[in-house]
Amino acid sequence: MKDILTSPFVEEMKKTTANMYRLGWDERNGGNISYMLDENQVKEYLDLDKVIRTIPTGFDATDLIGKIFIVTGTGKYFKNVESDPETNLGIIRIAKDGTTAELLWGYKDNSKFTSELPAHLMSHMARLKVDPENRVIMHTHPTHTLAMNYVHELDEKKLTHTLWEMCTECIVVFPDGVGVLPWMLCGTNEIGEATAKKMEEFRLVVWGMHGIYGAGKTMDETFGLIETIEKAAQIYMLTAHLPRINTIKDEEMVELAEFFGVNYRKDFLNI
Ligand code: 13P
Ligand code: ZN
Repeated sequence: MKDILTSPFVEEMKKTTANMYRLGWDERNGGNISYMLDENQVKEYLDLDKVIRTIPTGFDATDLIGKIFIVTGTGKYFKNVESDPETNLGIIRIAKDGTTAELLWGYKDNSKFTSELPAHLMSHMARLKVDPENRVIMHTHPTHTLAMNYVHELDEKKLTHTLWEMCTECIVVFPDGVGVLPWMLCGTNEIGEATAKKMEEFRLVVWGMHGIYGAGKTMDETFGLIETIEKAAQIYMLTAHLPRINTIKDEEMVELAEFFGVNYRKDFLNI
């Protein structure tokens, strides 16, 4: 058996959480990540017949029975994952009943997965129906995206359009736009269900005045989506109070989308 601390998936979780922390997106225990792993890869590092303990999830994830995820722990700080992955992360498998998580590794201090597990697993289920290669769900509190929530209308078309205007690459990186939920109580099955519903249509979902969810095939792709929105929101926040002299026009966005061959939300443009 290989040492799990040297596995590529633990390495990726360490690097990503450290990076997000250093960007200032994940204060205290803010943010959480879940990453679906390949069983054949995990069994090089763990005895899959050895369940440390079982933890009820409180919702039905029948579509994910037998699937294995590495997930950040609740109340854990992204800042600390790198130095102590076994306490701050856990590897869980969804048990045959669909409502129990079998702990295979981690949460060493007897803790458990993120309080946002409903939003994560429900979003995995929704995204896998759209894209069977989806593997990562990421939630974070990026500073400028959040700031923008307070001064910009929380309307999917208007928010996406403004973000597309802020960086030339935006319409190419997230042509499907950004879904938006109003402020809701976090950590509940309700916000999980609402997020998953949006994930049928979007890979990015803003949680009004809380943060953002991203979905993707890889850690890089998911991180890159959120990073691009955050950059656009930063430019918006740097310029929103100044007279706007120039902008990227809708015709130019069409030109970009066509040149890069992306299928964009035509109804989010004003032409
Ligand atoms: P957890 O510590 O339970 O992951 O919660 C952090 C968070 O960002 C809640 O939305
Ligand atoms: Zn949060």
